[in-house]
This record gives sequence, structure tokens and C-alpha cells, in this order.
Amino acid sequence: MKSFDNEEVLRGVDLTVNRGEVVVVIGPSGSGKSTLLRCLIGLNDITSGEVWIEDDNFTNEVPVSIAARRKMGFVFQHFNLFPNLSVLDNITLSPIKNKIQTVTEAKTIAMELLKKVKLEDKINSAVSSLSGGEKQRIAIARALALSPEIMLFDEPTSALDPETVKDILNIIKKLSDTGMTMVIVTHEMSFAKEIADKVIFMDDGQILEVNSPDKLFNRPQNQRTKDFLNKIIYM
Ligand SMILES: Nc1ncnc2c1ncn2[C@@H]1O[C@H](COP(=O)(O)OP(=O)(O)O)[C@@H](O)[C@H]1O
Ligand SMILES: [Mg+2]
Repeated sequence: MKSFDNEEVLRGVDLTVNRGEVVVVIGPSGSGKSTLLRCLIGLNDITSGEVWIEDDNFTNEVPVSIAARRKMGFVFQHFNLFPNLSVLDNITLSPIKNKIQTVTEAKTIAMELLKKVKLEDKINSAVSSLSGGEKQRIAIARALALSPEIMLFDEPTSALDPETVKDILNIIKKLSDTGMTMVIVTHEMSFAKEIADKVIFMDDGQILEVNSPDKLFNRPQNQRTKDFLNKIIYM
């Protein structure tokens, strides 16, 4: 459970994500999707209950361990990059500062990742000079620099121009093809259908339905899932 000032924003949430699984979370604005992701990675502490990352757990009293935290990469809707730093520094800052990689290692890893997101020519650019789509590609590279086992995406394309959305979705798709475990909050329903092993519908702080994409989109069981899907334009 997660409360803000006695207001319960996550209630009775019970969710297992298996290794290699892609879980897509959908639901109306304010339903607790971001809070769920933030609680999973320890960005928000939980009020009660527990989170297990493999055999490591954390609770209201025991904070997330550094080891568990490092297994997870997080991609935010609004990128959360350091705008005044270069692309390279954004990617290498944390691994170098936390002594996970040497300066040389960090740079080599950053260059490999920049190739993957097709931005190697921007390595020395200031992040502030990049487009939204480019910023998100850098944010993905930054999250991958620490070799996470789990990637969490919180509406990674919601702040982007329509023509750049596809680029980001393709990168995420490629990542899923490598077997990466992922939890993705998105409103891109056709993408969700294509990529998800299971889809979760959240409303009012609760998980109301968990199903295969086929079942959830074509034969939703819960009336609120049906109402939500009917309200949005998709596919
Ligand atoms: N830092 C915060 N302080 C107080 N309330 C918050 C905070 N973050 C989120 N909330 C509230 O928690 C609820 C769920 O928010 P959120 O997880 O952002 O929903 P979603 O991502 O599904 O739009 C909302 O009612 C929101 O106002
Ligand atoms: Mg959100």
C-alpha cells in the first residue's frame, strides 16, 4: 500500500513480474501507474507491504538495497536528464561517480549504447540542444549503461511528437527481443498489444484486471476496463 498524506493511492496491489516478461500497465490518469513504478524502484517509499527483487526485499522500514536498485533502470516521461551536461556526461556520470565503471569503461559503454540508439554523432552535444525524441533515446541509453536486469518505462512517449514515437517504441521492442524484463506504462495500445506478455489495468489505485493482451483488449472481464477501452481511441 502507498499513501500520500493519508490518501491511499495504491491499495491491495499484488503483482509478480517474471524474468524476461514484458508487463504493460494501462489505466486512466491518476490511477496510480507512476506511483506503482516509483514504488517498485524505491523512488517512493511504500507505506505497507513489501517489494521483492529476486531474493532481496524492501519494506516501509527496510529501504531498497543498492544492489536491488542497480538491477533496475527507469525511463521517465520527461526524460529527467541533466540539461546542462553533454550527452556523454549524462550517460557516464552515475557509473563513474558510484565507481561502477572507470572513466574509460564508462565512455566505451556509452559509445556502444549511443550506437544502439543511433545518436553516436551527438556524444558531445549539450542535452538542451536535442529534440524530445533524441532526449528520450539518451535517457534509455543512460538507463542501460548500468546493465539493468529490469527496465521500467513510465509513459516514455507521452511527451513526444507523433513522428518520433515510433523510434522510441522500436528501441523498446528491440530491447524486449533481447529478453529484457520490462514494466511499461503506456497509452500506446497497439504497441501494448504487440509487445506485452501481460497487460494490467489499473484504476483508482487498484489492479482491476491482469490478462493476456488478447483477452484484455478483445475480451475485457472488468466493466471498468471495458469503459476505459471504449473511451480511448486505439488500434
Ligand atoms: N508526490 C505526491 N504527493 C501527493 N499525491 C501524489 C503524489 N504523487 C502522486 N500523487 C497522487 O497519487 C495518485 C496517483 O498518481 P499517479 O501515480 O501519478 O497516477 P498515474 O501515473 O496513473 O497518472 C493521484 O491521485 C496523484 O494526485
Ligand atoms: Mg503517471
